[in-house]
Amino acid sequence: MRVFVAGASGAIGTRLVPQLIEHGHEVIGAFRSPGSAERVRVLGAQPVALDLLDASAVRQAVLEAEPEAIIHQATALANVRFGRSIDKSFGPTNRLRTAGTDALLAAAREAGVRRFVAQSFASYRYAREGAMVKTEEDRLDPDPPAMARETNAAMSHLDQAVTDAGGIALRYGGFYGAANDGLVKPVRKRQFPVVGAGDGFTSFIHLDDAAAATVLALEHGGAGIYNITDDEPAPMREWLPAMASALGAKPPRHVPLWLAGLIAGKGAVMMAAGSRGASSAKAKRELGWTPRYPSWRQGFVAAYAPATEAGGRNTHPATRTGHSPA
Ligand SMILES: NC(=O)c1ccc[n+]([C@@H]2O[C@H](COP(=O)([O-])OP(=O)(O)OC[C@H]3O[C@@H](n4cnc5c(N)ncnc54)[C@H](OP(=O)(O)O)[C@@H]3O)[C@@H](O)[C@H]2O)c1
Repeated sequence: MRVFVAGASGAIGTRLVPQLIEHGHEVIGAFRSPGSAERVRVLGAQPVALDLLDASAVRQAVLEAEPEAIIHQATALANVRFGRSIDKSFGPTNRLRTAGTDALLAAAREAGVRRFVAQSFASYRYAREGAMVKTEEDRLDPDPPAMARETNAAMSHLDQAVTDAGGIALRYGGFYGAANDGLVKPVRKRQFPVVGAGDGFTSFIHLDDAAAATVLALEHGGAGIYNITDDEPAPMREWLPAMASALGAKPPRHVPLWLAGLIAGKGAVMMAAGSRGASSAKAKRELGWTPRYPSWRQGFVAAYAPATEAGGRNTHPATRTGHSPA
């Protein structure tokens, strides 16, 4: 297929483009910053500079590219400083998930694009009730913390708009697998503590596995939502010390819930206490996908153990390094 990838130069895009090409697809790789063109070219895609928030430019780029499929992986999380307000940190990403998605869908309709796959998110979104691990059928959190409401609404907008249009929304776990993963610096510096009992669950996914699932979704997926997460959703008190150990860092500090709430806000408390993980049983069943890293236990070691202070292992020469959202 001729595939238009928005966000081709990002953390997931740089893993996805080579896998698409390996599967025989032809890729048009869109990015925002002029400096990303070479990275996209080296990956084997035809580079196109495009601001997804400029709807007429999106229309023109898609009509000119004449793709059979579009994959939306654009986020704006590089170099973001995460503060007390999730909505503030995610503001530009939220716009890419609302206006950016709408612009791509409108262009797709006009250009007669048959397949549409977009990046969504699984962790911290499901209702903080009942089972600790949720399926796509389970309800989303009806009452997210006030400072994360716009972010949750933007993800729900994307899920709804894409599936209404007959496309696929992939609710990925937390990405990891690159030297500049957002958690690397704070965990190394012991700035990311276990909060309270650390019993809130997170689902993770290695970037290579996320990319592999995306190719399969493009090729075989039916319209709808798929959780793309590893097999071991886990509480913070388990995954965080394991990440620190894989990085060769000291074990994380512990802080009580009240203190974390005071310093980092309600979002940090929600992630640490009560949050739910996600099951990818549907993706395995319907896409024939098997993660290479079924658990972050092996994945963190594979991603971080060879890392030095200067950086870790990158699996592709064009994979981005040198920035961090944290
Ligand atoms: N599920 C998750 O856990 C999750 C999801 C997303 C990101 N992250 C993490 O956040 C960090 C940063 O991720 P990243 O490098 O992928 O983020 P990024 O720098 O935001 O890059 C994402 C992609 O979107 C493109 N983009 C950004 N703004 C755009 C716009 N207005 N129009 C069109 N394209 C635009 C970027 O192009 P340029 O390169 O040209 O700027 C890039 O190709 C990574 O550590 C990543 O793992 C995690």
